[in-house]
Amino acid sequence: MKLKYILVAFTVIIICFSCKEKKAPVRGLVTTKAMVVSARIEASNIGKQILEQGGNAFDAMMATDLALAVAYPYAGNLGGGGFMVYRLNNGDIGALDYREKAPLAATKDMYLDSIGNVIPNLSTRGAMAVGVPGTVAGVFEAHRKFGTLPIETIIKPVIALAKRGVFVTKKQEIRLAEKQQDFKLANKDSILFTKAWKENDSIKYVNLAKTLTRLMKNGRDEFYKGESAKTLAQFVQNNGGIITEEDLANYEAKWRTPITFNYDNLRIISMSPPSSGGVAMAQVLKSVEEYDLDKFGHNAVKTIQVLAEAERRAYADRSYYLGDPDFVNVPQDKLISDTYLENRMASFSFEKATPSTEISHGTVDIVESDETTHYSIIDQFGNAIAVTTTLNSGFGSKLYCQELGFFLNNEMDDFSSKPGVPNVYGLIGAKANAILPEKRMLSSMTPTIVEKDGKLLMSVGTPGGSTIITSVLQTILNVHEFKMGMQEAVNAPRFHHQWLPDEIRMEPNRFKTETINTLEQKGYTINEERSPVIGIVDGILVLPDGKLEGGADSRGDDAAAGF
Ligand code: GLY
Repeated sequence: MKLKYILVAFTVIIICFSCKEKKAPVRGLVTTKAMVVSARIEASNIGKQILEQGGNAFDAMMATDLALAVAYPYAGNLGGGGFMVYRLNNGDIGALDYREKAPLAATKDMYLDSIGNVIPNLSTRGAMAVGVPGTVAGVFEAHRKFGTLPIETIIKPVIALAKRGVFVTKKQEIRLAEKQQDFKLANKDSILFTKAWKENDSIKYVNLAKTLTRLMKNGRDEFYKGESAKTLAQFVQNNGGIITEEDLANYEAKWRTPITFNYDNLRIISMSPPSSGGVAMAQVLKSVEEYDLDKFGHNAVKTIQVLAEAERRAYADRSYYLGDPDFVNVPQDKLISDTYLENRMASFSFEKATPSTEISHGTVDIVESDETTHYSIIDQFGNAIAVTTTLNSGFGSKLYCQELGFFLNNEMDDFSSKPGVPNVYGLIGAKANAILPEKRMLSSMTPTIVEKDGKLLMSVGTPGGSTIITSVLQTILNVHEFKMGMQEAVNAPRFHHQWLPDEIRMEPNRFKTETINTLEQKGYTINEERSPVIGIVDGILVLPDGKLEGGADSRGDDAAAGF
């Protein structure tokens, strides 16, 4: 009897001790009905307000997207493009492609000089870098198909925000300061942002408010066929670009069938080409599914190894096979088939790294073929959307149309200007992603929705160029394999491998020295300098009791709002 009491007391002490040792779980905002998570609290709040007025996720999408164009000019946009993946409350799924397109006058060699070398900065800065923008077409198309509230109800609060002004955050102050020289080089005149804006200053977007007012009154055609279209085409041409009114008039957003695949009892629904996101994520996750990642441990050597090796192989395929499916035959079913992936991973061993020089794209039988932003919304009706939208680089081409009040993208750099020459993200491309008039450039954006046992589990995505795919898949694994909540999964340190350069990028000072040493002994090159942050992930997780947990990444100014 006495011994029994001693054992109980001992057990209680041990439990209390481990409770003390264990860090409090990190929880994001938890709400019961609906949530929006985006790069700025102003945008999340406007999305939430639309949901509170009875709007659905698609109404909130238009509001949040346009509000990001105001509050987050770094990547939110009218002058860029994006992708949306949705899952309705009845389980129906779909995807909307409002990616930018190459102008009609674009040519395969437009960024090469007379001897075939890539002309520095031409595809990244100024008017020649601009693809035909798709965002306005995208948000209006999503609203046309699924929206319920009047356009006026949705856009009015965004216009009010633009007129009222938006506070500069510390991160924004730093970004604006860094880009001053680029703003000068890209623009003939000074722009709203050529000034030493400081934290807590308020920037008013008077001209953007006027453009939004015209959109509210005249609809999507205002941007593609109306006064704004004329102004935009003229502006781009005056700055040496090639976009015409015809390019704008021809632009249409496209409904696509998302990529779907299973991982354990999850069904993952993600963006199909012209994004490489869904295919590459399917390749990586299916390649690692048979390994006991949960037993290896989060960010343990074996976990990093198997993921990095699968990523190496997937990015090699990305560079060769993927492009706009309206122009090239993307063998996506074969690329994500079990047999193909088993063969791809056959050369992997835990003993040592596979050098990227030994990995080319896989053989598939085919007939010829950091700066972005993501938001997630789950509405009170159970509909979920995941949206990633971009100008490509931060502030896009840095070319700012003062009259219309927005930056223009530099998405043309996502094409392969010359096979084998890396773009701003170090990504290598091939013929499948060569430039052609009206073609969409390959993307890495990976807006994703996850089901578990047939029910909605998560909406997730991130900016980060080439690191988007690996950040999204690590967040999903953090929740599924390593039992983290949404905010904890978002906070966790991330790493990235993209075949070339042959290195594992890691967020600095966030991985154990012992882990890094072991990986180096096995032949991996570790780079902790290249990416101070890898991804700025936003997501919403449906908790077991049906409540929603937001994960808003503190690597940015991101914030969740809901009710
Ligand atoms: N511009 C980045 C991407 O689309 O992947």
